[in-house]
Amino acid sequence: MKKIIITGSRGIIGKILTKGLSDEFRIYEIDIANNNHNKNYFQTDISNSKSLSSAFKKIGKSNFLIHLAASSALNAKWEYVLKNNIIGLKNVYECARKFGIKRVIFASSSHVTGGYEKNILNEKNLKLISIHDPVRPDSDYGSSKAFGEAIARQYFELYKIKSICLRIGAVLSYNNPTKDKIGINLKIWLSHKDLLQLIKKSLLSDIKFGIYYGVSNNKGRFWDISNAKKELNYQPIDNAYLS
Ligand SMILES: NC(=O)c1ccc[n+]([C@@H]2O[C@H](COP(=O)([O-])OP(=O)(O)OC[C@H]3O[C@@H](n4cnc5c(N)ncnc54)[C@H](O)[C@@H]3O)[C@@H](O)[C@H]2O)c1
Repeated sequence: MKKIIITGSRGIIGKILTKGLSDEFRIYEIDIANNNHNKNYFQTDISNSKSLSSAFKKIGKSNFLIHLAASSALNAKWEYVLKNNIIGLKNVYECARKFGIKRVIFASSSHVTGGYEKNILNEKNLKLISIHDPVRPDSDYGSSKAFGEAIARQYFELYKIKSICLRIGAVLSYNNPTKDKIGINLKIWLSHKDLLQLIKKSLLSDIKFGIYYGVSNNKGRFWDISNAKKELNYQPIDNAYLS
C-alpha cells in the first residue's frame, strides 16, 4: 500500500478522507488535536518546524501528502491565519522538500476568488468564475489560500514537487446542503462522495501543477470545473437541489 501523510486529519475533511482512503492507502496523520491514540497519529503543531520535521522523520518516506491543517474559518483572526495558514503551510512544504514527497494535494479555498461572488450572485447571465480569473480574496483567510497556491507553484518551479490545489466549496460534516437553510450551500456544496472522487483522482493524476474548483454538480454552481473534468476526469455526481 502507498503511504499518505494527511495534515489536519482530525477536522471535517480529514475525517472523511482518513476513512475513505484507508482501504487503498496507508495513512499517517498529523494534527494538533490530542484525541487520537492511533500509532500512525502524530500530534504536532505544523507551525513548529522542529516538531513537524521530527514527525515527518518518524513517518519516513511517503509519496503523497494531503495538506488540510489550517484555521478554516472565513473570519479567522490574522494571528491564527499567520500561524497556521502561512507559517504552518510553509513548514509543511519545507518538510515535503526535505523528506522527498512527490505529490501534494493542497486544500485551497473558493475564497481565493470570493471577491467576485457579491456581483455574480445578482447577475442573470452568469459567467462562471475560473482559475484564469485573477485572484480576488475576500478575507485574510482567502489571501492565505492564495499564498498557499503561490508556495505550491514555487516548490514545483524550484524542487519539482507536484501540487494540485483544490479550491474547495463547502464540505459539510452532516453532508446535507439543505439542512441549515443557507441558500448559498445549494450552489457551493461539495458532497463527501464527490470530495473523495476528486481527491483520489488528484492523487492518481500525472498533472504536475494545477488549480481546480471542487464543487458538486449543483444546479446554479458558479465556478468553472471544465479543467477538473478534462485534466482529472472529475465527474461530480451529486446535486444539492436533488439531495
Ligand atoms: N470544509 C470546507 O467546506 C472547506 C472549504 C474550503 C477549504 N477548506 C479547507 O480544507 C481544510 C480542511 O477543512 P476542514 O473543514 O476539515 O477544517 P477543520 O477546521 O474542521 O479542520 C482543520 C484541522 O486542522 C487542524 N489544525 C489547525 N491548525 C493546526 C496546526 N497549527 N497544526 C496542526 N493541525 C492544525 C485542526 O486541529 C483541525 O483538525 C482547511 O485547510 C480548510 O481551509 C475547507
